[in-house]
Formats: sequence, C-alpha cells, structure tokens
Amino acid sequence: MSAPAELELFPDSARVEGGDLVLGGLASAELAEKFGTPLVVYCEDTLRARAREIRDAVPEASVVYASKAFPNVALLRLFTEEGLGADVASLGEIAFAQAAGLRGEQLVVHGNAKSDEELRAAADLGATVVLDAEDEIPRAVTSRVARVLVRVTLGVEADTHEAIQTGHHGSKFGLPVDASLRAVEAARQAGLQTVGLHIHVGSQLANTTAHEATIVELASFARRCRDELAWTPEVVNVGGGFGVRHTLDEPPAPLGELARTVADTVERAWSSHDLPTAGLLLEPGRALVGQAGVTLYRVRSVKRLGDVTWVAVDGGMSDNPRPHLYGARYTALSAARGDEPAAETVSVAGLHCESGDVLIDDVALPEPRLGDLLAIPATGAYTLAMSSNYNATPRPAAVLVQDGDARAIRRRETIGDLLSLEHE
Ligand SMILES: Cc1ncc(COP(=O)(O)O)c(C=O)c1O
Repeated sequence: MSAPAELELFPDSARVEGGDLVLGGLASAELAEKFGTPLVVYCEDTLRARAREIRDAVPEASVVYASKAFPNVALLRLFTEEGLGADVASLGEIAFAQAAGLRGEQLVVHGNAKSDEELRAAADLGATVVLDAEDEIPRAVTSRVARVLVRVTLGVEADTHEAIQTGHHGSKFGLPVDASLRAVEAARQAGLQTVGLHIHVGSQLANTTAHEATIVELASFARRCRDELAWTPEVVNVGGGFGVRHTLDEPPAPLGELARTVADTVERAWSSHDLPTAGLLLEPGRALVGQAGVTLYRVRSVKRLGDVTWVAVDGGMSDNPRPHLYGARYTALSAARGDEPAAETVSVAGLHCESGDVLIDDVALPEPRLGDLLAIPATGAYTLAMSSNYNATPRPAAVLVQDGDARAIRRRETIGDLLSLEHE
C-alpha cells in the first residue's frame, strides 16, 4: 500500500513501515510504550530544517524563535545552535531562555502587561524590550533596560481566527500611530536606546497579504518619524505569524518563501520612502515547531451511536486546547495499523468533562479498536504550551527523536506533582 497522503503533514522523518508510523527512525508504538501517552514527539531534523529554511531564505535577517509556541529549554538550545535567538513574553519564558544560555541581542522581550520584575530580568540579560504602552517607558528607564523597540498597531485585519488577530484597530497589543510617535519621542527623551519598530500582524497565516499591507503602513510611519522626530529605525521587527498546515484541506504555508516575500516587501517599502536600510528581525513561532510535533494518544473507548462513532482517547483539551479555543482542525493516522485501509469516518473525543472537548470532528481510520494508537500531526505549536491540568490531569511528556534515538525533553507530570501544590 502506498504511503497515506496525510504523511506530508507529519515531520520530515515520518514514514509508514509495515503499518508502524516511524518518527525519527523509531516506531510510534515503541515510543508510546517507553514514554507513555499522550506523548508529544518532536523530530529534531524537522526543527533544524525549518530553522535553516528561514535563515537561508532571509540570510540578512536575525531570526528569533517565538518561544510561546513551545517554551522548552532543549528546543531553545537547538535553535541557538542553528543561529536563532528567542522571543519571550513572561518571566517564565525569560527563565527558560536564560537556562538555554540566551542573552543580549539574542533575546526580545514582549508583553502588553510586563511586570517590573520582567523588565529588570530583561535589563539584567541585556535583552531588547518591545514597548507596548506609553506608561512602560518610565519603568523601562528605572529598570535600566538596554534597548527598546516600539510596537506599532497599524489597523490591518489579518485573515485568521479573531483570537489570533493582533494588528487590527482596537487590538490590546501595541500602540496606534499617534501614540507610537509619542512613545518613540518619549523613549528617546527618557534616555532609552530606541532602536526600532515592531509589528506582529496575527498568526496562522498562509499568505503574506496582511504582512504586506502592514509593512506599507509601517514604512509611512517610519517616514513620519524621520520627518517629525528626525529619527529613523535601525531595526524593523516584523513579528511572526507564518502558518502551519494541520490538514490536507489547508493551504501549504512555505516558511522560506513567505519570509522572503516579507523581507522583500520591507526593502521595497523602505526604499519607496527613501529610508535608510534597517536591520530586519523575524519572530516565527508555530512555523518552526508546529510540523515537527506529533501527539500520540491511546484509544480508551469506541462508542457507535448510529450517526457518529466516538473514538475517545487518553488526552484532549488539556494537552491541545486549540480545537476548543479556535475551532482548529486536525487529522489523524492510525500509528500502528497505518497499512490498513480506512474503514470508517469517526470523531476523536478527548476525555474531559466538556462536550466541546473534541480533537477531530471527522477522520477516516481503519476500524477503531480499544488500545489503538492514534497520531495527530502538526501538534508541535501552542499545544503543550497552552496545556492545562483540567480534571486534575497531569500534562504529557515531550521527546525529541532523531536517527533512532529518543530523548525526553520534558517529563510527564504526575498526580504527585499536582498534589504537592495543595494545602490541606
Ligand atoms: C509579538 C509576537 N511575535 C511572534 C509571535 C509568534 O507567532 P506565530 O507563532 O504565529 O509565528 C507572536 C504570537 O502570538 C507574537 O505575539
């Protein structure tokens, strides 16, 4: 039997051999046996390939991994080896990046409600701080922040779920143009090294339409800064947002091509306003880690109810809240019976006490059985990162696989971990 078409949604190393889904040279069943389920398996070759893809496509840019997609020390180290820095947006993410050895200009600190502690930690590491509000300026000065960018919101509505639109009018992020102009001036007057501007237009984008529209507006704003403040940005950070393909129905989002288009747009927009070339920064998150991750689940129940066959697994919205939050759609393969033809269209349910805890509405699988292993591809981003302990469920482990080796990069939580937080 030929390889299932869905395999292209999986990591680069994925193949089906004698029914087994093999990831990084290891059978999924073997990984599930050794590390338990649910389990998030990351393919090292895919992580490195995506990092190289964007660096090769835009060699002139600095690339920082938006660690919110999956804050993990091993992954941060791996990306550092590939020449990437990190974007961090909380004290925890700062600590993870610090543990991975990142500091100075490798670190970009975000947040629309930063604490003084975060600003001080950013300052101690010599990180670049992205100012998100005017009242942050005096606090950045007191904290002795090394260098700042100003986040500008230019009113472009990206074609994506409203929860991950960020550059529209009324967004809680960044500042509209007049306030941004004031912030640039106030930051400079306050003695902050004000090196540039930042935008992030939204996430899970399969094209660069929103990036391009925003960059054109940003260039006009940069021109206004030059004309009115005699200041031009040395750095332009155009954020992340490049999408991940979760199902075959979704269009591919080729990271290198999208990033190149964005870089060319900046170049054109800047030269159309006669602005001096600025250093380019890119902040991809999901596009670096999404396709590299596969979640393995064990089937705990098969319930046939006439119209629908429910296949319930040993995880759900606690390890992947994206279907529940954004209506994100996924597909699955049978990880140990991948050579069997699809026999039935089923719905994959999570184990949690909410009717909305459904991971997949419809997927064609071989006749489902108790104990089957299911693999959901493209689950490397914003899954474990957004996981919860709903129903007092310990969070899953994550492993990194390559060439037949598997290394735990996050241990599974235990019920003991959860109980240790309780006071009787
Ligand atoms: C400021 C900023 N940069 C980068 C990203 C990464 O976005 P994505 O994972 O879609 O690339 C985000 C996501 O929320 C963000 O807010």
